[in-house]
Amino acid sequence: MSEQTKANNVLVELKNINKMFLTDEVETHALNGINLSINKGEYLAITGPSGCGKSTLLSLLGLLDTANDGMYKLAGHDVSSLKRDERAKIRNSEIGFIFQSFNLISDLTVAENVELPLTYRKDLTKQQRAKNVQVALEEVDMAHRAKHFPSQLSGGQQQRVAIARAIAGSPSVILADEPTGNLDSKNAETVMSILDKLHANGATICMVTHDPRSAARSERIIEVFDGKIVSDQFNNDVTAIAV
Ligand SMILES: Nc1ncnc2c1ncn2[C@@H]1O[C@H](COP(=O)(O)OP(=O)(O)OP(=O)(O)O)[C@@H](O)[C@H]1O
Ligand SMILES: [Mg+2]
Repeated sequence: MSEQTKANNVLVELKNINKMFLTDEVETHALNGINLSINKGEYLAITGPSGCGKSTLLSLLGLLDTANDGMYKLAGHDVSSLKRDERAKIRNSEIGFIFQSFNLISDLTVAENVELPLTYRKDLTKQQRAKNVQVALEEVDMAHRAKHFPSQLSGGQQQRVAIARAIAGSPSVILADEPTGNLDSKNAETVMSILDKLHANGATICMVTHDPRSAARSERIIEVFDGKIVSDQFNNDVTAIAV
């Protein structure tokens, strides 16, 4: 692969990222000198003990928060020091989030929840939004529940709706923070197989997980310890299956 092709394939590039929180005069160095490059189409798992900085890293990747210093390029654009509204705009079109606790809005229907992030997109008409919502709900097999409210769904179904919400805007990258953390093993398996399918169709996925079985389904596993990446390995098992 030429250097040029490699450069075109890079979706995320973090260089020397530091993140410190200051609370009641206590400094927490959550991330210390993170360097990370993620290619388009990659399926990456981030693991490590509680408090090591995994969610902080995901928030920075998802432009929910900014680093104290360091460089972040997303799809070739430097997004390290954007203003809040510029960050929100890029976040809305480029990032899809899936959280452990689903984070659906209880007084909106399934379809309205999936549509919500799209309503901030000036590039989509009402018809396009409706189409995207339908396609996303079909992708996770939840179209038949479009008019239900989150409280009328099981946890597994709620997470499938949350996945539909994450993919409805065709983001460049899907960020998932413990997506199976609140699910029983059967629903966890359903969610993981949806992620597998999205990845097989070309999605770039970055997933935080404590669960070694979930991590084993990714192509590359990054281990974080004390705010640093201490290991970055391609997952041979998956490569073996893919060959
Ligand atoms: N908003 C915040 N204000 C102050 N400290 C924070 C904040 N967010 C995170 N931290 C601290 O930063 C460190 C990293 O937190 P983070 O949530 O990234 O850990 P994590 O690896 O996701 O842990 P877990 O596996 O328990 O979810 C922790 O020490 C945490 O207390
Ligand atoms: Mg966390």
